[in-house]
Amino acid sequence: MTIEQAAEIIKKGGIVAFPTETVYGLGADAWNGSAISKIYEIKGRPADNPLIVHLHEKKQIHDFCSNIPEHAHTLIDTFWPGPLTLVLKKRPEVLDAVTAGLDTVALRIPDHSIALDLIRRTGPLVAPSANRSGKPSPTKAEHVLADFGNACEVLDGNATNIGLESTVIDLSDEEPIILRPGMIGREEISTILGVSVKESSPNPIHAPKSPGQKYSHYTPDAKVRWLTRHHALTQKSALYLLQTVPSKGVNQVCYHGDLNAMARELYDRFRQADLDGYTEVLIESLPSSHPLFSALSNRICKAIDK
Ligand code: TXA
Ligand code: MG
Repeated sequence: MTIEQAAEIIKKGGIVAFPTETVYGLGADAWNGSAISKIYEIKGRPADNPLIVHLHEKKQIHDFCSNIPEHAHTLIDTFWPGPLTLVLKKRPEVLDAVTAGLDTVALRIPDHSIALDLIRRTGPLVAPSANRSGKPSPTKAEHVLADFGNACEVLDGNATNIGLESTVIDLSDEEPIILRPGMIGREEISTILGVSVKESSPNPIHAPKSPGQKYSHYTPDAKVRWLTRHHALTQKSALYLLQTVPSKGVNQVCYHGDLNAMARELYDRFRQADLDGYTEVLIESLPSSHPLFSALSNRICKAIDK
């Protein structure tokens, strides 16, 4: 399928999955309520979990928000296009289907030529990760097909570069707060803004500000666990994701502390583990000094908690 064809489908109220630099998104016209409701339906997404609006140029933000705070301008100028989603007070015209009835809207410009070309043709697109709710986010077109089959078309852009979803930061209150950690980390954002930005607690079941955080995510069928000293690394039904040099044993993948590589592959490893019939994925603890530590631990802990 070409980008032109994908744009035509979306303009007629359809849904097309497309690649971004983070993960594949399931795109629909951000101003078409019935197209957006189809997204909730085919994903099996809870109605109280709002969507991110994807733009292709910065000035489009004014169609969705008024009174944009200074911090937002600073982050936009530094990180867009890129894997940073801003949550801002919404304009009244923004559809409730996008925001799940909240008075804020989440926005980002993806850093991917196919995504940008598509959005330039269609206008702003809502795009949740293109997985069925509860499954790992898709980092390859084949993951989207595995979850949805013929239920939606996919623009194939090969494997995504980052592999984890964007950082989500809420700027709608006095104090900026990171709702979902990602590639752009707390320290980097704090330095740019000149304030110490907090991350919301890992599992804020009762925090109404980050609806997505309360749902189980990123989970393969195999059980995901942290590796402890007591594991022998010899269990044939387990896949081992390691940081230190592999020892004698089976099914080991070693990242040697390269968390960028691990982030890029994690969801594919989860999905592949199920296809290969592993019943467990055992993960060695991550180096906490790495900028991706928080984002990767967040996804792994959610997979463990399922
Ligand atoms: O990297 C990404 O962000 C990918 C690609 C496709 O862009 N998209 C993505 O979308 O991960 P999704 O729908 O799977 O996750 C969006 C997250 C959810 O946790 C949701 O609750 C949160 O953003 N969110 C969206 N709008 C919000 C709002 N107004 N206030 C607070 N959180 C919001
Ligand atoms: Mg998602």
